[in-house]
Amino acid sequence: MSIPTAGQAETEQCAQNQVVGDHEVHNPHGKENAMTEPLMVQKSPYPVVVEAGQRYWWCACGRSQTQPFCDGSHQGSGFEPVEYQARKSGTVYFCGCKRTGNKPLCDGTHATL
Ligand code: FES
Ligand code: FES
Repeated sequence: MSIPTAGQAETEQCAQNQVVGDHEVHNPHGKENAMTEPLMVQKSPYPVVVEAGQRYWWCACGRSQTQPFCDGSHQGSGFEPVEYQARKSGTVYFCGCKRTGNKPLCDGTHATL
């Protein structure tokens, strides 16, 4: 799986780049919202204290400014948030790299990126 990086050659000339956090994504076709891969927000999980019975909406696209949760910024991106309902209260580790195989929780994939 390839991950967009800030070091790609074309990025300096393109006005369609998008910066989210410290991550820049090249969008050569000018489709502002089109995404083929989620943005990698960070290469580590977000520990969150959850409450039993509460529902949480994990940001799958990486665009949210309220990580690790959705703030609606995914609109038009082709990504949708993933619901998580806590069965018990305690600390949960939500994926921050957006490449987990066990959405929305970290499965260690970030260590391979
Ligand atoms: Fe990323 Fe909603 S903002 S899924
Ligand atoms: Fe994404 Fe761990 S933070 S797999």
